[in-house]
This record gives sequence, C-alpha cells and structure tokens, in this order.
Amino acid sequence: MSVLFKQCCKQRKVYILVVIIVAVLLVGYSLRNSMSSESFTENKGVDVVNNMEQEVIEYIAKYVQISIRVTGYESIAIHFINTGKTDVNYGKWRIYFYAVRQLSAIRGNGLALKHENGGLYFFEPVEREFKYLKSGFNVTFDIEHYQVASKSDFFPNWYVASTAEQTRPRVLKYTEGDKSFVKDFTRPDHWKQGPHDNNNPLTNLERYQYYRYLNNHSISDVQYHVIPTPKVMTIRSRENVEIDRKWTLCLNKHFLSAGKYLAEALNLKIRDSSGGKMCISMIKAAEYGSEEYSLEVQVAGKAVEIKASTEAGAFYGVQTLLSVMSKTKIITDIFIKDQPRFQHRGLMIDVARNFVKKATILKVLDVMSMYKLNVLHLHLSDDEGWRLELPSIPELTLVGAHRCHNAGGSKCLNSSLGSGPYPDTSGSGFYSVNDFKEILRYAASRHVKVVPEIDVPGHSLAAVASMNYRQNVILASSENGGNSEPSYLLMEPERSVLGFNNWLDSAINPCLNTTYHFIRAVFNDLVDMYDGIQTFDLIHVGADEVYHDTWAGSPACDRRFGAGKYTHDFLKDFFLKQVSAIAADHNARIVAWEDGLYNFHTGPYDRAGFKNKEVCVQAWNNIWEMNRGGRSIEFANAGYPVILSMATHLYFDHPYEPDPEERGFYWATRYTDTFKVFGFMPGDLFANANFDRLGNRLSKEGVCRDPKNCPELRNPANIKGMEACLWTETIRSEHDVFYMLFPRVIALAERAWHEASWETNEQLLHRELERSKDWGRFLSALSLNELPRLAAKGVTYRVPPPGVNVNVEENVFRVTTLYANHLVEASVDDGLTWSVIEDTFPITKSLNISIRSRSPYTNIVSRTLRESIYRTNDAEDRISFLSHILLNVYICRLFYLSLI
Ligand SMILES: *[C@@H]1O[C@H](CO)[C@@H](O)[C@H](O)[C@H]1NC(C)=O
Ligand SMILES: *[C@@H]1O[C@H](CO)[C@@H](O)[C@H](O)[C@H]1NC(C)=O
Ligand SMILES: *[C@@H]1O[C@H](CO)[C@@H](O)[C@H](O)[C@H]1NC(C)=O
Ligand SMILES: *[C@@H]1O[C@H](CO)[C@@H](O)[C@H](O)[C@H]1NC(C)=O
Ligand SMILES: *[C@@H]1O[C@H](CO)[C@@H](O)[C@H](O)[C@H]1NC(C)=O
Repeated sequence: MSVLFKQCCKQRKVYILVVIIVAVLLVGYSLRNSMSSESFTENKGVDVVNNMEQEVIEYIAKYVQISIRVTGYESIAIHFINTGKTDVNYGKWRIYFYAVRQLSAIRGNGLALKHENGGLYFFEPVEREFKYLKSGFNVTFDIEHYQVASKSDFFPNWYVASTAEQTRPRVLKYTEGDKSFVKDFTRPDHWKQGPHDNNNPLTNLERYQYYRYLNNHSISDVQYHVIPTPKVMTIRSRENVEIDRKWTLCLNKHFLSAGKYLAEALNLKIRDSSGGKMCISMIKAAEYGSEEYSLEVQVAGKAVEIKASTEAGAFYGVQTLLSVMSKTKIITDIFIKDQPRFQHRGLMIDVARNFVKKATILKVLDVMSMYKLNVLHLHLSDDEGWRLELPSIPELTLVGAHRCHNAGGSKCLNSSLGSGPYPDTSGSGFYSVNDFKEILRYAASRHVKVVPEIDVPGHSLAAVASMNYRQNVILASSENGGNSEPSYLLMEPERSVLGFNNWLDSAINPCLNTTYHFIRAVFNDLVDMYDGIQTFDLIHVGADEVYHDTWAGSPACDRRFGAGKYTHDFLKDFFLKQVSAIAADHNARIVAWEDGLYNFHTGPYDRAGFKNKEVCVQAWNNIWEMNRGGRSIEFANAGYPVILSMATHLYFDHPYEPDPEERGFYWATRYTDTFKVFGFMPGDLFANANFDRLGNRLSKEGVCRDPKNCPELRNPANIKGMEACLWTETIRSEHDVFYMLFPRVIALAERAWHEASWETNEQLLHRELERSKDWGRFLSALSLNELPRLAAKGVTYRVPPPGVNVNVEENVFRVTTLYANHLVEASVDDGLTWSVIEDTFPITKSLNISIRSRSPYTNIVSRTLRESIYRTNDAEDRISFLSHILLNVYICRLFYLSLI
C-alpha cells in the first residue's frame, strides 16, 4: 500500500500536467464544437456530449478512405483504407451510403451491409468478427450483382454516424464531391452491363470520325439563320441596314410587354406611333393564329415590322428579330412568317431528387423563351423531397424539404442520393411562396406556362412523412390547447409497406378521407399562388409507378370497399378519378404519366370517367425492345391529348456518350446526344428505333414485325407536343443542370417548333441525307450563333471532348471539335499547363498527352482525354513538341488580340 502511495506521489507532477493538458483539450474541444455549431444551421444536430464516440467519428471521417473498384460485370469491391495512425476498433459507428441498386444484406471481413430505407444503406462492424481496421491497412468488401456502367452510378458524401446518443455524423472526407473515390473504368467488363452489351466508350479516333460525319454538311454562312427554324423565311436581297440609336420602337398601344422586352434588349426608346421610317413597329394582325407572327425588314424603306395577334406571337417575333441580330446590329432584307408545329413545347425539371435553386430556374426560363419553348413542368414532389412552401400545410417544407441523418426520426427525410448527413447540400431546399411567385411571374413575362407536378399517389414519401409529423407532433401536442387544424394523414399509421425504389411507406392511401382533404388543400394553395400571375388551368398529378401490392389488405380499404372486393387497379383508378374531380372543381385540366392512366390488362382508362375538360398523357416509357413504344399512340387513339417524352430520345438525365465518365442513368438508352434529339421524328415514332439499350441495331421493320407493337396513329391531332425531362438523381449543381440541358434543349426546341421536310420523306436514304444537311446547318448556327448567346446570359453548356486521329506514318496527329470556333488544348505535364493546338499537329516525339476542348465564349472546357503518341523515328526530332506548342500559343494570342 505504502509503496503504491509513494509511486503515486512521485508521479504527482506528471498527474497535474496530464490534468492540465486534458482540461485544455476539453475546453478547446468544446470551444471548437460551439464554434462549429454556430456556423452550422440548427439542423446540424444535438450538442455533442459523448466526446469519446465523437472522436471515433471524427477519425473515421478524416482518415478512412473509401475506394471503389469495378471488378467485373456487375461486381464491385469497396475498399476501406485506414490512412491514419490509429486503429479503428469495433464500436458503435456505422458508415452510411447511397446505392442506386438494390443490395441484399450481406457480411464480409467483419462488416455487415444493411438496408436503412430507400437507397440508404450502411456498413457496421460485426461484434467478435470485426477485429480492427489497422492503421495503414484496408478491408475489402465485395458486392455482386451490382449493375454498373458509369461512374455516376456511385454517389458521394458517405458519412459516419454512431448509434451512441449525442454524437454528430460526419461526411467521409474522401467521398466528398464527385466521383473521385471511384477508380477509372479501364476494361470492357467495367463499363458493359454484361457480356452481351455492345456499348463501348468512343475511342478518340472514333470520336474524330463521328465528328467528321456530323460536321460533313456544316456551313459558315449562318448569320441570318434562326433557331428554331421558321416555317417560311426568305432573304430577298443582300442589302442591309443598321439598326442604330436613331431607330425607335413604335408601339401603337399593342404588345406593350413584348415591346418592353425588345426595347430593353436593343436599348431602344419606345414611341407611341403606328410606324414609319426608322421604326421597329409591332402591329396587331387579328387574322394570325395564337402563336403566329411575321417579321419583315424593308431595307429600302428603313423599316422593320412585327405582326401578330397575341402577345405570345409578338414575343416570338421579337425573339426571332433578336436572333437574326445576335451578332451585329446590321440586318438584311428578310421576310419571315412563322408558327409552331406543336402547341406544347416543354421541359420538365425534377427539383425533388436534387433541389434546383430559383436563380438557376430563372436562367433556364430565359433560355427556354429564346427558343420559343412554352411549358416549364416542375416536378415539385417525390419520395426524396417536397419543394414548394404551402401556407396551409407548412409541415410539407418544414419536414419534407430537408434530408438529413435523423436516427431519432426528427424534422427531415432520410439522406438520399448522396446528400450527406446535413440539410446543407442540393438534397435540401424549397421555393418559398414568394420564390415561386417570382418564377411564375418571370415565366409569364416570357410566355412560359409553369405546370406544377404534385406526384401522387406513388412517389409520395416526402408528403407522407410530413403529414405523419403533422399528425404525431403538431396536432397531438396541441390537442389540449384545442387545435382544430385538419388532419391530412396520408397513410394508416399501423401499416408499413415497401414501395418503388425500396422506400417504406411511400404511397398515399386512396381509402382515407384525409387523403382528399390534403389534395384539396394543396390545390387551393396552388390556385392562390397563381392568382393574378398565370392562369391555373393545368396540373400534373404524376400517378406513375405505384407499387402493385401497396394497398392490399389495408384496413381503410377493407372498410371502404369490403375486404377482398377491390383490386390494385380499381384503387388506382378510383384515386385518380377523385383527384381529377378536385382539379376539375378548380377548372383545371390534368396531366399524368402514361402508366398512371393505363391498365396493363385492358389499356388506357376510359376517358369518359374524368370530369376534366382535358386529361393529358405524358408518354415516356418507350423502351423499344420491351414493345412499349406504341402506348402514346394507343392513348391518342383513345381520345387523350398526348405529350411525347420518349425516354430513348428526350430524357436528358441520360448521358451524351456511352462513356463511364459521362454523367447520367442509362436505363432507357445508353446515350442521347444532341444529334439524336435533333433527329427525333415525332410523326413517325418507330422510325426512331435505332439501338436497343445494349447497343444492338434496331429498325422500324424489326420493331414492327409484330403489328401489335406498332398501332397506327388514327388521331394525329391528339399529339399535342414534346417535352424533354431532366430527372436529377445524379445532378447536383447548376453546372450539372446546364451540362445536361444545353445544348440538347436547343435541339428539342428545333423539333418541337419546326417540322422538317425530311421527317416525312419515305425514302430512307434521302431522309438520311436531308437530315444530315439540315443538321449541318443547325450545328453551324448552334456553334457560331447560339452558344455565344447562352454564354452571354451566364449559361454554360456541355463542351464535347475533341476527336483525335494519330497518323504515325505521316508523323502528325489531327484533332477536331464538334463545334466550330472551339479550341483544342493539350498538356504534356498531366494537366498542369495547357496550350492551344491547331487542327494538324506534327508528332516530334513519343509522348503521353492530355487533350481537351475549350469554349471560345466562356470559361468552360470538356473532360480530358488521354492519347499515347508514338513517333516512328525519334531521331528526326528537330523542333521539340513544347516549342511548337509555345509557338502556337503565341499565334493564338495574336489572333485573339486582332479580334479585340
Ligand atoms: C490493401 O491492403 C493490401 C495489403 O494488405 C495491399 O496489397 C493492397 O494494395 C491494399 N489495397 C488498397 C486499395 O489500398
Ligand atoms: C459527306 O457527305 C457526302 C455526301 O454529301 C458523302 O458522300 C460522304 O461520305 C460524307 N462524309 C462523311 C465523313 O460522312
Ligand atoms: C430514416 O427515416 C426514418 C423515418 O423518419 C427514421 O426513423 C430513421 O432514423 C432514419 N434513418 C436515418 C439513418 O436517418
Ligand atoms: C369519409 O367520407 C365519406 C363521404 O363523405 C363519409 O360517408 C364517411 O363517413 C367518411 N369516413 C370517415 C371515416 O370519416
Ligand atoms: C505513356 O504511358 C504508358 C502507360 O502509362 C507508358 O508505358 C509509356 O512509357 C508512356 N510513354 C511515354 C512516352 O511517356
């Protein structure tokens, strides 16, 4: 005893020192935490009390590197690498991540993989099996049957959390941002979906050849070309006139809104006059159709006239004038008479999977209206988020607009699609009432109708969870206080049902009365927001992808219809009729995704069952090889107006190239480039069948061999338009949104506004040739006129990587870009420094080179390609490669200077 005491006393100094150090550390630690909790939003979680557990979390977040390798068809390996100096032991930590494929619960190397909800999974150490993750070592976890073809199949922001209370989750540092933790795909079994998949990324040479083909008919004289192509356009002479500051805009009380837009764009004064010399006059022509206009320039008489019968027509005349004047203020003797082929020219943006900020939406509206698109369809709700504030149901955005780690089940939805543990990423956000009104106003002034989509009854987890919160927290807590707020319960509390995308409780129950109280309240609020800004006469109700057994045995349904007396189809149909009746009460037409109005046994629902003036079908699921391409025609024949959103051509969440580096899903087609969109033939649907998903060639004859697959369109007038869809599962920023939209949206506008003569050419070879010439014209106008206009609006676009042709015999390599004026840059130091190179370039020595394209209009570049260049005879090396590059840079600079 005394010995021990002595020792203890000897070490007293040490003890005191330790105590001081610990105290300092603790103070420092709590200071750090209080500082970080200030910079965090309140949602960043509880106060950390459990410091020991928190330290483990912090360590894992900082030092455990995740590295994913594709190891073969449908198999991946996940490496957990401890890059720090401390071992990670068995404990209460869990590593959460999002997987787009359904995974089974499996174990390996001491780790268990488990499902949380939707696509959220986690790894946790298994007691007694997990020894430790030793400093400097790694653990590998193999997963089979994980279909993968692209890096964007993996989602960022893995995070570590603890089941211990009072801790905060942290994002694993190595998984922050995009893709960096996924190893390059270097072999066919990495990027193919199986041995029968014929898709391969383009080689640099193939891309070179493809661009040569795409550029074959490009022209340089595009100054007065207009996109979308006007119905009639003649250039009567090459005389021209300059619209200088002496000109005025002459409005005779008509078209004040379009006039104001033009006056601002050209910086002209407005005069109240009926026209004359040096006037751009806007004239009412009652005989014109609702979107029709004409534009006439009289060079001799020094006058420009825009005629229309409506503000929309006048606005399109203005857009055309701005388009022909986009480069200079000099304009030629032109006559245009124009009107659209389709009344519905739309773009859908899914703001639910990832939120898209108001500022981005406004820019998109700007561009849409430049190209005469007139419908912005906002997918405002889904399982992963509710994005519109509703004054009468605040819980929808209080809970449903945010995603976070909420092991306690608090005010947010599960983390999803790589949104991490906190509501500070694009996984969270919403439009306030004022934001939404601003969007409506901005759109209205550009003649774009905003169609709100409230996706019910499937894809409704965000609403269901928010209404559970309303019921259990808000209403329950205020019961004593006499809260008489209505209940909007959307699901029976005692039931838990798995639905689409592996979400629990994601479908609204059609047998509860509160369901319809909810729908009515939502529609009422929408009507109020539109009031005085846009007419509220069209609402999208989704209705897609309701999991088949969702309502089987629901007590509410048993009560309402009698146990065993209803089928899934009956309930779906019943629900939709109720919802459409509520819309009809507001004088609104409805739109729904095709499967929502389709009975898989009997075909389209009976149109007569709906009270609405119009029930519109958005046709999308046309995977050719599954023989669903004919649904749009079935609907048109059954009396429904149809909007074409063929997933094989108009789903802009699909990648531009069949390349693992290109963002996007590929379930309908492996890729959709701008040429495919341009070449889409809405009037001859099956002629668009070119490839199946695995890259096998298809043809109309092949697809239509069984005539059942290809019903005849008896009612072409029911095809009302086209709409491209941007689903945002893999799209997390404004940059991503613009990359996926532009320039494909401009090709969409071309097809939706203008019917080209080649579309109806029955002679296939002629059709190809005519189309290719028309494309050449479009491509030139796009690169020389339109891309600079986008850039001037602060809108970026996808710059395609260059094509490269290495010719060792001639000791040169050639590069080409898809877009005229775009530059090609090379780097010989792995991207440290870049130099502009010319089309043909001598090979002076063997080297590995990085190559990319650059926009001349704004600071954006393509993704980087690599090329190994072998010179046959290195001895001849006279001017070094580098000095050649430097010379080029010099020449380019001179060229730029001469432009300025
Ligand atoms: C994992 O560790 C092994 C040795 O244990 C090593 O050979 C391998 O390269 C490591 N893998 C990674 C991805 O770090
Ligand atoms: C370019 O078009 C012509 C016909 O106009 C055709 O003969 C030639 O093969 C085409 N070239 C390429 C590279 O496609
Ligand atoms: C997922 O959401 C459920 C329901 O709100 C909640 O109980 C659970 O804790 C959440 N899980 C995570 C990991 O956030
Ligand atoms: C639901 O509404 C119907 C029709 O308004 C009514 O007859 C029924 O009693 C209501 N059910 C409940 C449970 O309130
Ligand atoms: C280019 O890279 C390859 C593979 O990385 C390498 O084998 C080769 O030596 C490199 N060539 C030159 C000239 O650096």
